[in-house]
Amino acid sequence: MNAVATAPVLISPEQAGPNNIETVLWVKHWTDHLFSFAITRPASFRFRSGEFVMIGLPGVDGGKNILRAYSIASPSFAEELEFFSIKVEDGPLTSRLQQIKAGDQVLLGKKPTGTLVLDALKPGKRLFLFGTGTGLAPFLSVARDPDAYAAFEQIIVLHGVRQVEELAYRDLFTRDLLEDEYLGEEATRQLVYLPSVTREPFERQGRLTTLVENGRLFDDLGIEARQFDARYDRIMLCGSMAMIKDTAALLESHGLKEGSNAEPGDFVLERAFVG
Ligand code: A2P
Repeated sequence: MNAVATAPVLISPEQAGPNNIETVLWVKHWTDHLFSFAITRPASFRFRSGEFVMIGLPGVDGGKNILRAYSIASPSFAEELEFFSIKVEDGPLTSRLQQIKAGDQVLLGKKPTGTLVLDALKPGKRLFLFGTGTGLAPFLSVARDPDAYAAFEQIIVLHGVRQVEELAYRDLFTRDLLEDEYLGEEATRQLVYLPSVTREPFERQGRLTTLVENGRLFDDLGIEARQFDARYDRIMLCGSMAMIKDTAALLESHGLKEGSNAEPGDFVLERAFVG
């Protein structure tokens, strides 16, 4: 069977309104529910690793544009803007966004922002990045940024998912980053990747909160005290509302304080986009 070439989806300046019109460079489908894509980056578009921006498509039949906040998964110096998304069958945006192809156009907001940035954390030694599901996205940006390796001695990426197949970007953390021309040395020395699965057998099992509570996280890292140390440990959280709430409460019980851009602290959090 021959693949049918369909015409690219193009957006007019009138439809775009105040947003940039960008071109899709590639799309990668991980599972029936997860995909990643990259778009062109306007020359004037600046952001800090870990920030989010509005991404969207024009409304159907002249309806209102549909935009949602997406964490940028590429680091701040990258030429392209990468995103990691869920696919929701009846989701107003993702039901359509999951069908995009290279060459199609999407809308990109003009003002990236967010708190999952190095600036919102006090200086420290260990940086823990807690992401569940597509909440990994901002940490794909932070963990690929040389500034993070300059600011911290160790960067620990925790990715919590239900099923093994949802461990997208496993190859990035276990191979590609370690072999990277620019970051390979730092990553080999400083990066630790700890994936965990909750609903089927895997080498590490349990919610990220459970790994903290039962000490497994600290055992994996050789931290004898089996708890966070407010003097050295800094944490970023991204996931569902419940995950953020429970993990933040747990961190507070270890004596850590939430920070913001205005007042840097020990941990920062953001809700992953759903739908
Ligand atoms: P579980 O399978 O026990 O619900 P989701 O797709 O619902 O966002 O879940 C992604 C991962 O986050 C799953 O492994 C899920 O575990 C876990 N999770 C869900 N709720 C919480 C929570 N309150 N704290 C920590 N992890 C959570």
